[in-house]
Amino acid sequence: MSHSRDTMVKSCPMNGGDDEYSYTKNSMFQKETISAAKEIIDKEIAQKLDVKNPLFASSSSSFRIADLGCSVGPNTFIAMENVIEAVKHKSLPPKRPYFAAGVPGSFHYQLFPTSSLHFIHASHALHWLSQVPNEVVDENSPAWNRGKIFYLSAPEEVGKAYAAQFAKDVGMFLDARATELVSGGMLVLIIGSFRNEISPSHTLASVLFDLLESTLLDMAKEASLN
Ligand SMILES: C[S@@+](CC[C@H](N)C(=O)[O-])C[C@H]1O[C@@H](n2cnc3c(N)ncnc32)[C@H](O)[C@@H]1O
Repeated sequence: MSHSRDTMVKSCPMNGGDDEYSYTKNSMFQKETISAAKEIIDKEIAQKLDVKNPLFASSSSSFRIADLGCSVGPNTFIAMENVIEAVKHKSLPPKRPYFAAGVPGSFHYQLFPTSSLHFIHASHALHWLSQVPNEVVDENSPAWNRGKIFYLSAPEEVGKAYAAQFAKDVGMFLDARATELVSGGMLVLIIGSFRNEISPSHTLASVLFDLLESTLLDMAKEASLN
């Protein structure tokens, strides 16, 4: 799985620590959505996770959970504690210990052995693309997105190039998870989306990306003047 390690080297982690620019101090929105999802996850685990199913239980005596794209900061602990609590209510003895480990590598590839995980969680991470689509940075392509960081108010081809990259990445993600999950296991994804009837240009994300884009352009201009 060396390719997954290579891609991780090129990835952009969130800011560590707990100063004012850290992910810990700038991920309140993500934290709120994890709390909002708790009730749904509790219900799904209670109703659908059949821990007594022989196929599910035979894989080992331990219950294995992964949080993909967990980052630093408290959100992953909150999400994982929610899952452990819900599973405990279902089957595990209350005082059963748990062990945590970090696994480096890109979630676009297989990270865990075949049929080894009972529960996989990924929040606010799946929208990260594995790469900027090639056409977007190719000045000979109709999808060249000159001077922009986003597909809004760009030619239609730009949006299509991003959508195609996302479809490919999600396909790889799901293939890898299908291999890692035990039969009867559960996958929970929390990911931002737009409603069909709302134009992306009328969303808060659009305002934020416009601001970010003009800031990056100003910084690039300043750097080229210095
Ligand atoms: C916005 S953070 C989300 C953190 C946390 N899950 C939460 O909900 O607060 C996204 C994380 O996904 C990680 N990430 C992005 N692409 C990844 C990939 N291909 N493989 C593994 N992690 C990835 C980033 O490094 C970052 O730590």
